[in-house]
Amino acid sequence: ERVIKAALLGFGTVGGGVYKVLKMQQEEMVSKLGARVELKKILVRNIEKAAQKTDDPSLLTNNWKEIVDDPEIEIVIELIGGIEPARTYILEALEAGKNVVTANKDLIAADGHILLDTAAKNKKDFLHEAAVAGGIPIIRPIKQCLAGNHISEVMGIVNGTTNFILTKMSQNGMEFADALKLAQDLGYAESDPTADVEGLDAGRKVAILASAAFNSRVTFDDVYTEGITKITATDIEYANEMGCVIKLLGVARNTPEGIEARVHPMLIDVNHPLASVNDAYNAVFVQGDAVQDAMFYGRGAGELPTASAVVGDVFDIVRNILHDCCGRIGCTCYKNLPIKHMNE
Ligand code: NAP
Ligand code: HSE
Repeated sequence: ERVIKAALLGFGTVGGGVYKVLKMQQEEMVSKLGARVELKKILVRNIEKAAQKTDDPSLLTNNWKEIVDDPEIEIVIELIGGIEPARTYILEALEAGKNVVTANKDLIAADGHILLDTAAKNKKDFLHEAAVAGGIPIIRPIKQCLAGNHISEVMGIVNGTTNFILTKMSQNGMEFADALKLAQDLGYAESDPTADVEGLDAGRKVAILASAAFNSRVTFDDVYTEGITKITATDIEYANEMGCVIKLLGVARNTPEGIEARVHPMLIDVNHPLASVNDAYNAVFVQGDAVQDAMFYGRGAGELPTASAVVGDVFDIVRNILHDCCGRIGCTCYKNLPIKHMNE
């Protein structure tokens, strides 16, 4: 039985989830893949704290060199978040001939093209399904299943924390601060929740979605963002009286005038399908000239749903490793695709 070794960077909400899902998959993955994925190292800051989360503390290290210099490790799973040191670790891993999976939308929305170019140059995979809408498959469906479309619009609820807060304020009369605290406790929020409540996290996801859907380079700086911090209980009450709910929506449109990308709160009629997307659920609508409308719905944040997307990427890489894949039809690695900058 072939064993593929992987390393985890970060052992927080999602890192802990990936550790659990890989354990849950121990038996099934062999019949699915013809190989077993084994974690060889977990990079953490505080070994003592992390030791409480594993029955094998020998996996834990705080020395990146032990991972990047280990030729046995073929897959690096980056779940630290933020720009640095995640960016350096990913680039060094790719240059060292390792495949990379990440959920790091901050980094992809800023420097995704550099990471993809480095992966292509080294003929390695760089996959990031979990970076948008948590457990919902959306990047791969857009890039592969909907590749036969000219996509004109991608739109929806792409931040679980804010949708959770708005739901709790609207349905349970909860205060903003209490709902945010609950979202943090449930592992939905970013380490700095300002990114969620100010619409920055959703803006990063819109940039990634627009890049994938329109085969363009759209960065976070190209997206207009407005969050939910100014929404009051009175706004929610008035919205309800008007037969509406308030949702934080992300919208990306490919128009003849250029690409438009924005995030802001919107009033939605209660009969609209997005009105019933509650709690930390997300939903994304895609409009293409052939498929016409497609909607993707599911859990947009949290430990196991997000880990589900990360492990899906890891398994795709295992298939590519086993079949020595490089840019063939059906390949998931998206190598060598030309990427233009937004509105080029
Ligand atoms: P988290 O709970 O804060 O976990 C991050 C972990 O990385 C923490 O354990 C932290 O250690 C560790 N870390 C930070 N800097 C490090 C360093 N230099 N070396 C080693 N370890 C380091 O965050 P998370 O929610 O798991 O998010 C991880 C990534 O997934 C982020 O990019 C986030 O945007 C993305 N994501 C999260 C969700 C979600 O629902 N949570 C969903 C989709 C995507 P300490 O504990 O010592 O700080
Ligand atoms: N903080 C993010 C959210 C995590 O609430 O949607 C999932 O990307």
